[in-house]
Amino acid sequence: MNRKHIVANWKMNTTISEARELAQNLASHEFPNAQIVLCPPAVNLAIVAECIEGSKIQLGAQNCYYESKGAFTGEISPEMLVAVGCTYVILGHSERRHIFNETNEMIQKKVIAAVSAGLIPIICIGETLDERKAGKTLSVVETQLRDATRLLFDKGIFNIIIAYEPVWAIGTGLSATPEQAEEIHTFIRNTSTKDFGVITQQIPLLYGGSVNESNAQSLLQKPNIDGFLVGGASLKPESFLAICGAV
Ligand code: PGA
Repeated sequence: MNRKHIVANWKMNTTISEARELAQNLASHEFPNAQIVLCPPAVNLAIVAECIEGSKIQLGAQNCYYESKGAFTGEISPEMLVAVGCTYVILGHSERRHIFNETNEMIQKKVIAAVSAGLIPIICIGETLDERKAGKTLSVVETQLRDATRLLFDKGIFNIIIAYEPVWAIGTGLSATPEQAEEIHTFIRNTSTKDFGVITQQIPLLYGGSVNESNAQSLLQKPNIDGFLVGGASLKPESFLAICGAV
């Protein structure tokens, strides 16, 4: 069985002092049952790396570019993330896809670049409300999944994490039900297994979208939900610790 992962996506929140306080607080706790990953804004990666040193918490970034260096003003390379202490990077988050127009093709390039630099990508996929209403959930998820993973799986690289995040559930307080989430997680598992074999079953499948201390337990009871990508609730230590405690 996969080790549970709880990934905190702080998004564009926390000043340097707020990031330090939050990371120090979390680093003072033990998490025997789950791998905790903190993903602060890029400018706070270094301070969070310092705060979690010596703990079992790992560091992740929220995005990266697909080139190593050069004239790409404002971008950050996977190599820079490794140098600051990151093990993980979130890629293809719906806010990147929908606000910053990232395409499946760009995300594929970022995933390859991240893995080449030694990072574990946390690849986000998920349908919008309109797509769900139009009955397109499975086809959207299938395309996003295959586009992001095919080239890696072809090369025998399976050290990745996939996060199913229905866009309609993100930041809305309206989480998918355990049954809705499990249906898509099972579909993701079956699709990858059909394409590339049982080896893909070791890939942790996280759920994200309005996870909180009240719904974490019931979601985790589903066999194909291996943890969470948590946004809003990850900024509140009591809520985040309660979610981690549900594992
Ligand atoms: P939320 O965000 O927990 O605030 O819904 C999740 C995410 O965007 O990863």
